[in-house]
Amino acid sequence: MKYFIGADLGTSSLKLILTDSEGKIINSVTKDYSVSYPKSGWSEQNAEDWWTAFKLGLPELIKDINGEDIAGIGVAGQMHGLVILDESDNVIRPVILWNDGRTWRETEYLNTVIGKDALSENTANIAFAGFTAPKILWVKENEPENFEKISKIMLPKDYLNYLLTGVHACDYSDASGMLLLDVKNKCWSEKMLEICSVKMEQMPRLFESYDVIGTVLPEIASELGISSKAIVVAGAGDNAAAAVGTATTGEGKCNISLGTSGTIFVSSEKFGVDKFNALHSFAHADGGFHLMGCILSAASCHKWLCDKVLCEKDYGLLEGEIDTALLGKNELFFLPYLMGERSPINDTDATGMFIGLRPDTSRSQMLLAVLEGVSFAIRDNIEIAKSLRIDIKASCLCGGGARSKLWRKILANVLNIQLNIPVAEEGPGYGTAILSMVGAGEYASVSEAAEELVGIKEKVLPEESLVALYEERYQKFRLIYPTVKELYKNLK
Ligand code: XUL
Repeated sequence: MKYFIGADLGTSSLKLILTDSEGKIINSVTKDYSVSYPKSGWSEQNAEDWWTAFKLGLPELIKDINGEDIAGIGVAGQMHGLVILDESDNVIRPVILWNDGRTWRETEYLNTVIGKDALSENTANIAFAGFTAPKILWVKENEPENFEKISKIMLPKDYLNYLLTGVHACDYSDASGMLLLDVKNKCWSEKMLEICSVKMEQMPRLFESYDVIGTVLPEIASELGISSKAIVVAGAGDNAAAAVGTATTGEGKCNISLGTSGTIFVSSEKFGVDKFNALHSFAHADGGFHLMGCILSAASCHKWLCDKVLCEKDYGLLEGEIDTALLGKNELFFLPYLMGERSPINDTDATGMFIGLRPDTSRSQMLLAVLEGVSFAIRDNIEIAKSLRIDIKASCLCGGGARSKLWRKILANVLNIQLNIPVAEEGPGYGTAILSMVGAGEYASVSEAAEELVGIKEKVLPEESLVALYEERYQKFRLIYPTVKELYKNLK
C-alpha cells in the first residue's frame, strides 16, 4: 500500500492529511500556533513554530500505518510571507505575513515611482502591501543589519520543504505572489530583483508544483518515522493547492475559499492579465495560470467576533440563535477590513466597522452581519471578475467557513451562483496530496488526478426571493466604504 501526505501551512494552524493512492482520507491532524500583532496592522509568526507543529503532528498522523509506506509529501502554504535565512540557513527575524500592512510606503513607492505599468510588464501584477517584494524593501530600509545577513529568501511552505529535503525550492504558483516572478515566462524577473537589491543566488530554484524537489533527508526521515525514499514535491500557494483539491483546474473554473482570508480563484490554461491589474495574475499548480481576488479577513472575522467579543467557543450554538427569517433583512452592516483590505480596494488604512447599531441589536444580528459583510466583500471581487467579462455561474467552496450551512446559503444568495461543496473539506491539504501523487507517478497530470479524485457532496442553489433581498442589501453595502475611505486616512 502507498500513502501520501498533504500539509497545509495555514495562518492559524498546520493541517496534515494522510491519503491512500485512491485519494481516500485515512487520517487528519491539526496543530495550532499563534500569530503576533506587534504593532497595529502588523502580523508575524515564528517559522520555528511551523516546524514544531509538523514534527508533533506527523507521527500522530501516521500512527496506524507503516511509515515506510509513505510514498510522497506535498506542502501548501500561506502565500507572500517573507522568510529570510542567513548563511547557515538560520531564520533571521520573525516571518512577516501575507496580511501585514506595514509596507504601505514601499507599496506606494513601487506603484508610483517604479510605476504600475513597469511592474505589470515585469511581473503581470502591481504591488499590494501583503506581497513579498515590498516586505524586502521594508527590511532593507528599517532593519539594514538583517538585510545584510540575507542569504536566502523563501516563502513559508518552502521553508518546511527545505527542512524536509535540504533543497531551496519554490513553485511557480507561490512565487507569483512575491512580485519578483515574471509570471508569463515563469522565471525570476531580473528587473524586479534589481529594484529590490536582491541577487539571483538569494532566490530559491523554481519548479512546477508537481515536480519532485527531492526526498526526505535520512536524519529527518528516521526522526519522523517515515521512509527516506518518500518524494517531496514543490507544493503550492494555499489557494492554488485548494483549487487542485476542489478540481478547479484547466480552463474557466472557479473556487471560493473562506479561510482566514477569502479568495475567488479562476483557473485558466492561458496566461492573461487585465489592464487594471484588478485581480492577481498568477501561475497555477496544474501547470497553467489563474486570476485571483483576495480579501484579507474572512473566517477570521467570524472567529474574532465569537472568540474575542462574544467570548463563546460554541460556534454552533451562536449560529443556532440566528433567526433565518432575518436573512436579507438584517439592518446591521459590517465592513470586514480587520487587517486593512487587499482586493479590490487595496487600502491598508481601512478597518473593520459595524454600522446600523440600535438599542435592540442582538448578538445574533451582529453575527449575521459579519457573515453577510464577508460575503459582500467576496461579491466585490466577483463584480470585478464580471467587469472583465468572466462569467461565474458556479463555484466550488472550501475553507473553514464553508462548514457553516448558514454561511454557504448566505454566500450563494449574495453572489447568486451555485456553490459546490467538495467531499474533502481540506482544500489545500487535499490538493497537495494530489500533487504528491502526480509527482510520484500515480497520475499523468494534475487535472487528470483532480478530475478522478475530487467528489462533490452538496450543491447549494441560490433562491430567487433571497437573491433579490440580498441584491438590495449589497447595493447599500457598496455605499459605505467610499463614504468612509477619507475618514480612515484621518483616523490613522
Ligand atoms: C492570497 C493570500 C492569502 C494567503 C492566506 O494572495 O494572501 O489567501 O495565502 O493563507
